[in-house]
Amino acid sequence: MAFFRCAAAAALLTLVTASSSSKRGLCVIPPRDNPHHAKDSAIWTTGPGSHLTWYYNYGTTPTGEYKNTPGFEFVPMFWGAPEGGFTGDTPFLDSIREQIKDGSNITHVLGFNEPDGSFEYGASNIPAQVAAEEWKRQMEPLKEHGVKLGAPAVTGTPAGATWLQDFFSHCNGSCNPDFLPVHFYGTFEALANRVTEWGYNHQDLLTTQHAFNESIRMLDDWSKITRYSYFGAFRSDTSNVGPNSAMLTEEGKLTDIGSWYLDGPATNNIPHNSWAGVLRASNGVIKVAVILILVGYFVV
Ligand SMILES: *[C@@H]1O[C@H](CO)[C@@H](O)[C@H](O)[C@H]1NC(C)=O
Ligand SMILES: *[C@@H]1O[C@H](CO)[C@@H](O)[C@H](O)[C@H]1NC(C)=O
Ligand SMILES: *[C@@H]1O[C@H](CO)[C@@H](O)[C@H](O)[C@H]1NC(C)=O
Repeated sequence: MAFFRCAAAAALLTLVTASSSSKRGLCVIPPRDNPHHAKDSAIWTTGPGSHLTWYYNYGTTPTGEYKNTPGFEFVPMFWGAPEGGFTGDTPFLDSIREQIKDGSNITHVLGFNEPDGSFEYGASNIPAQVAAEEWKRQMEPLKEHGVKLGAPAVTGTPAGATWLQDFFSHCNGSCNPDFLPVHFYGTFEALANRVTEWGYNHQDLLTTQHAFNESIRMLDDWSKITRYSYFGAFRSDTSNVGPNSAMLTEEGKLTDIGSWYLDGPATNNIPHNSWAGVLRASNGVIKVAVILILVGYFVV
């Protein structure tokens, strides 16, 4: 789960109706971090009501399953850098140029993923000075191709704000991002014009749903926000932000939140942590059934 990173949104108790939004995208958990990737990936483009317009996968190249999906735009990410920079190579820049040459419609790219955070939490842990140098070498030239550049997406902490200040001072006026991706950790205070990863982690289901509804309404309404994606495209039993934020149940079915995100109806599929969680949530009802099955098994 290297890329899993907790993020939270404000819980405001307002009932809203989710409406379709052309801003809405998908944060794809890469196959190596998502054991159910191959089985679950189709649901986001074929589910009821689905019309998500863009996605990112923390990588430079498109996700195989979505390569030929019209209207589902891939947004590459310049995730991180080796310690000390790339020593002359420009793999990110080369890859994007190549894709554009091959006819991909790349309109936006995302900068470093949580460069102020440690690897342990799936962050890219880059010194601001290295990031500034790499930005100038590998991001800035993409402007020639009309690509819009997303600033490094720092963690929503004071350390993140300090990192970004250091980054811009090392840039010395030569880094010109077009938009600022924001990761949420609890409040809407730091809202900028694109939100790429958020969720309300480790809360009970109703609280999570309220927060989800309210967040979607704000994100859709606020014109400064041009795109957003919800962090939850995985099964509840593999979630590290709590089962209730997940858009799929432990069996891979759309949860209410998953379906609402696609503009579909409530599914009443309750996400659980694991089968142990299912048993706990059943308040004893399922436990009896399981015991009966086990008894039957031993008798046979
Ligand atoms: C490229 O994508 C943008 C945004 O999704 C769209 O507005 C534009 O028409 C597309 N261009 C081509 C050539 O498909
Ligand atoms: C920053 O940019 C200014 C103006 O281009 C230049 O004079 C100065 O030497 C630069 N500073 C560093 C540390 O590169
Ligand atoms: C969330 O919004 C959906 C409609 O999109 C609505 O059916 C549901 O009751 C809302 N839930 C909460 C907890 O606000």
